[in-house]
Amino acid sequence: MRAIIVHGGVSELKKEKVERAVNGVKRAVEAGYAVLKSGGDALDACEKAVNVLEDDPVFNAGTGSALTLDGQCAMDASIMRGSTLQVGAVADVRNVKNPISLARKVMEETDHVLLVGEGAEKFARIMGFPEYDPITEERRMEWKKLMDRVMNGRSLKHWKKLSELIKKHPEILHGTVGCVALDERGEIAAGTSTGGVFLKLFGRVGDTPIPGAGTYATIYGGASATGIGEAMMRTLLAKTVVDFMKIGLSAPKAAEAGIDLINNTVNMMAGIITIDRHGNIGFAHNSRDMIVGFINENMDSIEISGIPEDWRKDD
Ligand code: GLY
Repeated sequence: MRAIIVHGGVSELKKEKVERAVNGVKRAVEAGYAVLKSGGDALDACEKAVNVLEDDPVFNAGTGSALTLDGQCAMDASIMRGSTLQVGAVADVRNVKNPISLARKVMEETDHVLLVGEGAEKFARIMGFPEYDPITEERRMEWKKLMDRVMNGRSLKHWKKLSELIKKHPEILHGTVGCVALDERGEIAAGTSTGGVFLKLFGRVGDTPIPGAGTYATIYGGASATGIGEAMMRTLLAKTVVDFMKIGLSAPKAAEAGIDLINNTVNMMAGIITIDRHGNIGFAHNSRDMIVGFINENMDSIEISGIPEDWRKDD
């Protein structure tokens, strides 16, 4: 059974961005599913789908990534093959177009799991990734607006303040991207890519490149998470949800149980997508929105879900 699901991050998307995000998610599912249908493997499908999302500036990954407190673009990504538990990740990496593809190089070309910062960038050049500036004008404007808000009374002395800021303005979170895919041979892969949360402190690494936190895959299932990374790191959400599938929960039930766990413990904004080895697809989130697109062989066409309730295409 072939199956794929992608997410465009948890958020409260502004109306004008919803249609762009829906189209981006749909294009990513189409690209990944085309790989699966032509006999390609889950890892290729996953990388391809995430590349499409990274290249779309509406999402907070690759081109158009969110900026750090000091106005830099510092991206995180990871990708994992379920059958072998091979995983590759990069963190705090700049000047690269597709961090998920660099993460795959870490997995396939090194003995390591995670490369960070300057080292990751040096490795990118060795692997032939050209220098690329992922900062868009749209993000620079958003950063300036947020910095103004912060400077005008909402101080950012420590993380709790940023957390409060995110609660009041959840639109600043959107949106890490991710994919889980199952190919016809039963291989499951998961991948996640992000610019991190807006105004994160320099040096801060979130859940996305941490195996078990933002991304995880085994022979039983795969998961990719989104939201405030500290929540996933404290609960090891992606691994926990995959373990739920191992003990027999379906992908939808495992995703729901994962978000219940978040709500009953750290209680921070989070979302997760899942696929189990039978090709069941699941997703759950405690945010207002989390746009997801998915398809498996039992479905006639791609389904899109997690759109804000008050959004109408014809408005
Ligand atoms: N989930 C993305 C981050 O917190 O960096």
